[in-house]
Amino acid sequence: MTANPAIQRPLVSRRSGALTGTMRVPGDKSISHRALMFGALSLGETRIDGLLEGEDVLRTADALRALGAEIERLGHGAWRTVGRGVGGLAEPSQVLDMGNSGTAARLLMGLLSTHPFTSFMTGDASLTKRPMARVTTPLERMGASFVLRSKGRLPAAILGTNQPVPIEYRLPVASAQVKSAILLAGLNTPGRTTVIEAEPTRDHSERMLRHFGVEVVTEQLSDGALAVSLTGEAELRARDLVVPSDPSSAGFPTVAALIRPGSEVRLPGISVNPRRSGLYETLTEMGGDLTFSNEREEGGEPVADLLVRASFLKGVEVPPERAPSMIDEYPILCIAAACAEGPTIMRGVGELRVKESDRLAMMADGLTACGVKVEAGEDWMVVHGTGRPPRGGAAVPTAMDHRIAMSFLVLGLASDEPVRVDDGSFIDTSFPGFVDLMNGLGAAIGEG
Ligand code: S3P
Repeated sequence: MTANPAIQRPLVSRRSGALTGTMRVPGDKSISHRALMFGALSLGETRIDGLLEGEDVLRTADALRALGAEIERLGHGAWRTVGRGVGGLAEPSQVLDMGNSGTAARLLMGLLSTHPFTSFMTGDASLTKRPMARVTTPLERMGASFVLRSKGRLPAAILGTNQPVPIEYRLPVASAQVKSAILLAGLNTPGRTTVIEAEPTRDHSERMLRHFGVEVVTEQLSDGALAVSLTGEAELRARDLVVPSDPSSAGFPTVAALIRPGSEVRLPGISVNPRRSGLYETLTEMGGDLTFSNEREEGGEPVADLLVRASFLKGVEVPPERAPSMIDEYPILCIAAACAEGPTIMRGVGELRVKESDRLAMMADGLTACGVKVEAGEDWMVVHGTGRPPRGGAAVPTAMDHRIAMSFLVLGLASDEPVRVDDGSFIDTSFPGFVDLMNGLGAAIGEG
């Protein structure tokens, strides 16, 4: 099921009519990685329903199998893990290839750093450009050692320690991946491991650890920061769970429905975790008609059904402190902004430069090629919408980045002329079935 990186898949999208109907958005990527990892660390059998079967998550499954966990696919989205207990993973005989996935790479580095063996990790041409020192620096303080390529990049050798020491670590960048890597290392470390975050990032690790019976304590400090702690040599009790639909993936049909007149689209069972909901807050402020109903809890995560109706959007200023709750959603927000009236101002978004691609540059260049006025700096961007869909008509490079590809395909549904993307194959990392599901609502996306 692994994509062949040599085969590109050009795609094109054309202006469509109204989008209507119901889409079952695939499972949340962040939660799916964690479900497999925590299942592999627990004693006993865990059944996972709604697992995202995207390339990134399949890499995590393969790596955990190589580390000795039993992981089996039972049917569509239904998986079973039999874990080895905290500290029970075995030395892999092969290099762990994490493909395109930063989450898989960084969380596994945390996990492996407190296992007393050496493992080797690599990734594809996108992942091997991304910074890893942000995880290896705190993990070295816990006793692990790493050999990395220049600028802290993969491939890496991970020399796990058999005498881990707990740390208290203040995150220098708002990153749930770094927080989770440290907490995963802390699970097999005697004593209390604490991560302090100035800006709250997604809390799926904390929620899921609690679901598996681990006590995770969250305290607000006097300076407003959050301290997240757990006591190591913990035991995870296997427990079944259901993965909600991914709010990041849901952003694509949501924006498509907002910008195509007459649209009405239902997206049931979307995660409404407040640490992930920044896009929805912003789109509502822009005038988007979004209705959440039937709010409930599944596997420790809040979930609701979303109804989206086409709307006239206005540009807004997005507060920088909202960035962690919508960090993956800026590319699709840029598309909404390009169709809105007036400027949309995004500040404090420098992290976008180190995602699957330099997303600030990719969005600025692609939108400019589609006739949109954009200004961008090191950590900010302004998209000037005119209140009507842009010209389009460009062939946009995607630099192995699934979200850049999906964003520009959504733009093509509204623009005057078709929008082409050079390679849609990476869409499978997070949103398998994207083209068919979008076309099922009435979109016009085809091979390019
Ligand atoms: C993720 C955290 C975010 C996000 C990524 C998934 C996670 O990355 O961009 O897609 O699952 O923890 P950072 O931690 O680098 O912000």
